[in-house]
Amino acid sequence: MRSFLFGIFTAVVVLAVAALVALWLGYFPSNADIAPSNLESSIANRALDASMDRHAPRVTNPLPPTDENIIAGMKIYTMACAECHGDLDRKPSAMAHSFYPPVPQLILHPADDPEWHIFYVVRTGIRYSGMPAWSKTMSEEEMWKVTAFLARIDKLSPGVQEFWKKTYSETTPQTGTPAPATPVH
Ligand code: HEC
Repeated sequence: MRSFLFGIFTAVVVLAVAALVALWLGYFPSNADIAPSNLESSIANRALDASMDRHAPRVTNPLPPTDENIIAGMKIYTMACAECHGDLDRKPSAMAHSFYPPVPQLILHPADDPEWHIFYVVRTGIRYSGMPAWSKTMSEEEMWKVTAFLARIDKLSPGVQEFWKKTYSETTPQTGTPAPATPVH
């Protein structure tokens, strides 16, 4: 039994060293111009969700979801996020396929995550992806405003919908017109 366990231990160490050597010798690709495989995406997304569930504090948005706050969040979104995540004209971002993993198109496919989850992503960013940690450049209040907007994209009040239509396009995701099907992957 002892030598069996020792055999397993040795195999694990040898595999880990082999993986490190392969990394150092440059056998792992670095290019971001292809889409990840389904297997890689599902493992990575599962790990990402599990990590958020474990680390993100279950905080509630301290700001009331008034039209004023949501519109402020919408403006922050267009300035800081739309370039990667898609603008309010509901066209996919030109960068949609330039990242590995690809950037979720949050206007075309609104997130269905709770606000504490979105806030944690915005505040801390996501490692080894293009998602920045906005706490370095935004105030807590700005991050909560953009979070409030993202959490409600498909259920905005008539006042906010009106502002959206007037400012960005004729259609919003709330008017009953389903977003055009343009999958990112
Ligand atoms: C430079 C490009 C870039 C910018 C700018 C950017 N993001 Fe991201 N964002 C990404 C990428 C890439 C991912 C995907 C990361 C992944 O799946 O691992 C992402 C993921 C996300 C997610 C989804 C996380 C999840 O749980 O699946 C949210 C929400 C998000 N970003 C919000 C924002 C907000 C809000 C802003 C603006 C304040 C913003 N992003 C600006 C690149 C960007």
